[in-house]
Amino acid sequence: MAAAVRLILRRRLSTATATPPTPASILNPSSPTSALTSRQKTRLAISLLKSSPPPPPDQILSICRAAALSPNTHLDRVALSLATSRLSSAPDSLRDLTSSLLIPHHAPHAIALFGQAGLLPDAISTFQSSPSTRSLNALLFACLVAGNHAEAARIFQTFPDAHNVKPNTETFNAIIKSFSESGTTRSFYSVFDEMCKKGVKPNATTFTTAIAGFYKEEQFGDVEKVIELMKKHGCGESLQVYNARVQGLCKLGRSGEAKALLNEMVKRGTKPSWVTYNHLIYGFCKEGDLEEVKRLYKEMGKKGLVGDSSFYFTLIFYLCKAGDFDSALGVYNETTARSWVPCFSTMKMLVNGLAGSSKVDEAKGIIEKMKEKFPDKAEGWKEVEEALPQ
Ligand SMILES: *[C@@H]1O[C@H](CO)[C@@H](O)[C@H](O)[C@H]1NC(C)=O
Ligand SMILES: *[C@@H]1O[C@H](CO)[C@@H](O)[C@H](O)[C@H]1NC(C)=O
Repeated sequence: MAAAVRLILRRRLSTATATPPTPASILNPSSPTSALTSRQKTRLAISLLKSSPPPPPDQILSICRAAALSPNTHLDRVALSLATSRLSSAPDSLRDLTSSLLIPHHAPHAIALFGQAGLLPDAISTFQSSPSTRSLNALLFACLVAGNHAEAARIFQTFPDAHNVKPNTETFNAIIKSFSESGTTRSFYSVFDEMCKKGVKPNATTFTTAIAGFYKEEQFGDVEKVIELMKKHGCGESLQVYNARVQGLCKLGRSGEAKALLNEMVKRGTKPSWVTYNHLIYGFCKEGDLEEVKRLYKEMGKKGLVGDSSFYFTLIFYLCKAGDFDSALGVYNETTARSWVPCFSTMKMLVNGLAGSSKVDEAKGIIEKMKEKFPDKAEGWKEVEEALPQ
């Protein structure tokens, strides 16, 4: 949570003395001088939704309404998704939320939220009240997040005709993803034929999704077939396909073969991205080949490729788990230069590991920085510090 929001929240909660503050009064103060921007309101709503113990369902509704959340901005969508997960055991409240905030303008978003809460019948009735290609795609997405692949197949087969809705590339990609996640990737071929017959253009995602599924099922012959099909449709040997293949092999514990693919792509003139290295480095981490991990990490740096924060956090976690605290410290140093900090449990592993390998001063230095940066975790860090060898 941003410090400014924390401050506002503390001030608002402490100034209300006689009656406890309601979300509406916190988010929409009567005094115009303390009015909040809509972004501040959303941030405040998020922190209220995250509070523990979680607010009761009617409070969650008032928070969302007082903050006037709408799915038009990313931050509001984060807040809505959070509210949905908090309401997943209170379906009636969730229905209230979606009907007041989202329907009819935002039916696809409401459908997706129902899917997230596992309420597929509600997602379906929302689709039926406002059928469109976007709603159909949201409904398939809802089935996927709910893990109900049989329902996805039924909807894909019957809803477009029954509701006079035209499937598009995203629709086909969604059902192919459902096949790939449920171990039925062989159905890709017939759906792909249908796609071509209907004049819907496949794109790289169509093929890489099928490739990922066939790898998972260890159908290597089919992987080759899809690659050929892909070339025929002018999608070529793009970076995205190489990444899907590298990931597929690494997930199967065949990182050595994936690395050969990296060499092949370079030879053929496709530049690897940080994502390529991300898959390879995790692959070798999981296979316990730390030498290869460090070599690839160095190579990645030399090429000037920078990953996202979770790439570095996961790497630090694996290095700590393997007991290589020096290397973990090196990676941690690079992330702090970008103001990224791994989660408490990973940092605790690193600190304890450093202290255990006679780097108590380094460990204490890190603890000081953590306490400064995350005052709300200061207690936890004090415990870690007291347990260190003095
Ligand atoms: C393929 O099309 C879908 C739907 O329009 C889109 O979401 C996806 O990003 C596209 N994939 C690529 C690689 O452009
Ligand atoms: C990490 O940074 C600390 C403090 O800046 C420094 O003392 C240490 O040598 C660095 N370690 C590595 C492995 O880069």
